[in-house]
Amino acid sequence: MAVMQIPGHDHQGPREVSLEEIRAVLGDCHLCPLGETRTELVFGVGNPHARVMFIGEAPGRNEDKQGEPFVGAAGQKLNGLLSLAGLEREDIYIANVLKCRPPSNRNPKVEEIQTCSPFLREQIRSIWPDIIVCLGNFATQFVLHTEQGVTKLRGSFYEVGHFTVMPTFHPAATIYHSDWLPLLEADMRMLGQWLAEHPTKG
Ligand code: URA
Repeated sequence: MAVMQIPGHDHQGPREVSLEEIRAVLGDCHLCPLGETRTELVFGVGNPHARVMFIGEAPGRNEDKQGEPFVGAAGQKLNGLLSLAGLEREDIYIANVLKCRPPSNRNPKVEEIQTCSPFLREQIRSIWPDIIVCLGNFATQFVLHTEQGVTKLRGSFYEVGHFTVMPTFHPAATIYHSDWLPLLEADMRMLGQWLAEHPTKG
């Protein structure tokens, strides 16, 4: 399996900041205009000490209503895929690049990502996972500091400082691109194999 080294942004190491503290700093966030149009801020959910952290793009309609990531159609797909890696929702942590839903599910804007992503970076440092799975282009480009698309990057692992990173397709994208589903499934099996072969980094 190919592994590429990418300069990391984790040089400060893990922090003793809890997810609750990060959530408290966000409060009723209005740092960008999405604060005006959202219903619920979607912080993230799951095991605060997860070995595997999944990062999506932004909340959709159902997530915006319920305040939890990946509870809609994309979430149903993700739940099915997790088993291919030997994982359950309880094992992982999931968050998005953006904490608030862009109206009509439009793409995140550069300035929204710049404003919101420091909170994701703090979540990553709090959880300090062994491996980060990036679902789709926005998560991949943020974590790998690249402008390349996931189609080119998937199928390999990347080392970003402490973290191993696995970019793959967004589960929602496979609804329109059914030919991507077997590739996403293969990536999830590759993740399961990586977990079995790599003891906890700690
Ligand atoms: N798509 C995402 O990227 N994140 C969610 O939480 C839901 C759908």
